[in-house]
Amino acid sequence: MTLTIRRSAFADVRAARRLGDEAFGIPAERAPDPQPDSWPSANTRPWSAWDGDDLVATLGVRHFTSWFHGAAVPTAGFAGVTVAAERRGEGVLRPLFDAALTEAREHGEVVSTLYPSASGIYRGLGYEVIGSYDEARLPMSALAAVRAPSGGVRTRRATASDAAAIHTVYRTWATGQNGPLTREEKPFAVDHDEMFGPGSPYTGVSLAVGPDGEALGFASWTRRSGHDGAGAIEVDDLVALAPDAARALWRVIGSFATVAGSVRVSTSGGWTGADSSRLVLPDHTATTTSRPYMLRLLDVVGALGSAHVPPLDTRVPFAVVDPRTPDIEGAWTLVVDDGAVDVRPDARLAPSAGRGPDRPTFTSHGLALSYAGAASTANLRLAGHLSGPSTHDPVWDALWHGRDVHVRDYF
Ligand SMILES: CC(C)(COP(=O)(O)OP(=O)(O)OC[C@H]1O[C@@H](n2cnc3c(N)ncnc32)[C@H](O)[C@@H]1OP(=O)(O)O)[C@@H](O)C(=O)NCCC(=O)NCCS
Repeated sequence: MTLTIRRSAFADVRAARRLGDEAFGIPAERAPDPQPDSWPSANTRPWSAWDGDDLVATLGVRHFTSWFHGAAVPTAGFAGVTVAAERRGEGVLRPLFDAALTEAREHGEVVSTLYPSASGIYRGLGYEVIGSYDEARLPMSALAAVRAPSGGVRTRRATASDAAAIHTVYRTWATGQNGPLTREEKPFAVDHDEMFGPGSPYTGVSLAVGPDGEALGFASWTRRSGHDGAGAIEVDDLVALAPDAARALWRVIGSFATVAGSVRVSTSGGWTGADSSRLVLPDHTATTTSRPYMLRLLDVVGALGSAHVPPLDTRVPFAVVDPRTPDIEGAWTLVVDDGAVDVRPDARLAPSAGRGPDRPTFTSHGLALSYAGAASTANLRLAGHLSGPSTHDPVWDALWHGRDVHVRDYF
């Protein structure tokens, strides 16, 4: 088999769509065929693998920035990964990913993320599950006993003039987490018309405001059909910067209890207390569907070096050794000076010399989990993703394990 792997051209669109429809099903509301002047869509890089004239595999890479450790980190988000049914199991994925990941590095993207249909597909490529995008379904009765907000917090319907304040609320929340998209780039950027115009997917956007009118939270929600127990309210975002704002917004949704039986909320963090807005709910009945989110580092210095970590002064030697990801193998010293991070390559050490007893040594999965703040060094050691001396483990955890993982955009 001689494969040609290349960026897709407009002439490939029909064949690529056929492959995508076959793999993921034909959507109920099919988007019209793209036009040459609007293809590929903004910040999207389509790739394909060909055997002669036969399309063997496709994927799309989305460029966006996501928040990790207080920095907007250039990210390559992979989506629409498909291999033609008759060609599965031949190992097409690795060369296709290698080509697209090389281009991602050229674009300055330092991490890559994706939503897997099965995590085993991407583990061999260095990705690991760091969190999940969750849909929680609650009975309306779970909202009935939410206490009224105090401190002068109230709600009102948002208008287009509130778009900037809504983005500020989202940004304030997102910068304190690891993983959320910044929503600064299309198609994730909040477009005023999309949110408030006649074609808006939302029935309403509710704003929680403080006594001086300052925005403290928002909920974008859609009323689904039915006015008996089968009716539902879908909440796309419920972000609150204070418990009274969360209470106020949940009460807006709960006020539909007489005409809707349930509420579906898009959230993250496994519907645990990591979603702080949940902590004001007096009833924790919920059914949750999770979509795992995977991450892989592309540039160790670029990713770790951009982080804003706690104000410590320390030096930690570390290494990455993983035959699955030779591109990120190496040995470095992490130098932290009052919270500013400098990641210095240890030129004296060849990558393979990083293995062994002299320094903490991560697999690519271990570094992904640790960088995301998704696993402690103790658990990485249990899972075989961290070896070598443990002297620095408490410091490493203090540096990297202080933020919860969240993601609120699906792609
Ligand atoms: C998923 C899919 C792209 C894999 O293609 P493939 O040709 O089988 O992939 P490869 O042979 O290159 O195998 C790549 C890896 O995926 C693993 N894999 C393949 N199918 C898997 C599955 N269903 N569950 C878990 N792992 C799987 C292989 O074991 C291999 O792992 P390794 O690198 O550790 O050896 C293909 O089956 C497909 O198009 N499925 C339908 C669409 C889909 O699910 N796309 C993924 C969306 S996120």
